[in-house]
Amino acid sequence: MCTLKYFALILVALTTLSFMPEDWGPTGHRATGAIAETYLTEKAKKEISDLLDGQSLAFVSTYADEIRSDDRYKSFAPWHYVNFPFDSTYANSPKSPKGDIMVAIDKCLEVLKTPESSKDEKTFYLKLLVHFMGDLHQPLHVGLAEDKGGNTFQVQWFDEGVNLHWVWDEKIIEKYGMSYSELAQNTKKLTNTELEEIQKGTLEDWMYESRTLCMDVYAHTKVGEKLGYQYMYRYTNTVRDQIQKAGIRLAKLLNGVFE
Ligand code: ADE
Ligand code: ZN
Ligand code: ZN
Repeated sequence: MCTLKYFALILVALTTLSFMPEDWGPTGHRATGAIAETYLTEKAKKEISDLLDGQSLAFVSTYADEIRSDDRYKSFAPWHYVNFPFDSTYANSPKSPKGDIMVAIDKCLEVLKTPESSKDEKTFYLKLLVHFMGDLHQPLHVGLAEDKGGNTFQVQWFDEGVNLHWVWDEKIIEKYGMSYSELAQNTKKLTNTELEEIQKGTLEDWMYESRTLCMDVYAHTKVGEKLGYQYMYRYTNTVRDQIQKAGIRLAKLLNGVFE
């Protein structure tokens, strides 16, 4: 009887956990890292390889999620996103005292640029930077506090009950059926002008691009709605473009750090 009770409790806990998604699944994050690697300068490649002991950006891109369940790293949890109302701006909204994704990326860059930072510190914040640049490009990571970036916005994905955040973190990519390297190798071919257009701007500009996409998502998704192929076709290229932009912009930041 007791064992049964425990079994039921564990089952409930596991089910709840599996319904709390975190970020672009590993595929999106790894593709971002792999794309960034193709835009790095030789100098940046060398310094990054030293810091990561030869591991790739793709490999370390999920580190920030891997440490999330470890209590010692609890303070980093609010660094994966930023929420503010649709009718307000980031500047005009109250900031979380625990920080947000903008604070997080600035901190990573600061540690990497400071000559006095230790190698371990630089390695840690480099891994976080790769991850947070991916998150910044997931539209629902620039979301609304009231539904936790879509985490409490229930929808149907084909025949499965999920939340909207999960659809955007993983489900669209998963349905597309590409591995991270296939995603990274099948990016849009860009002209130089298009590439420059993606590279220009500030972190805040890039955050607002995600915000605009997030507003579009809310305009086209209703609570409880059954989302299927039509939704997937509507947004697959948005997801792919965002991952490509994240990779290109991550490389731009890293080339700047290791100039
Ligand atoms: N938790 C609360 N808000 C969130 C968001 N926008 N993205 C991911 N996790 C969150
Ligand atoms: Zn997420
Ligand atoms: Zn994250």
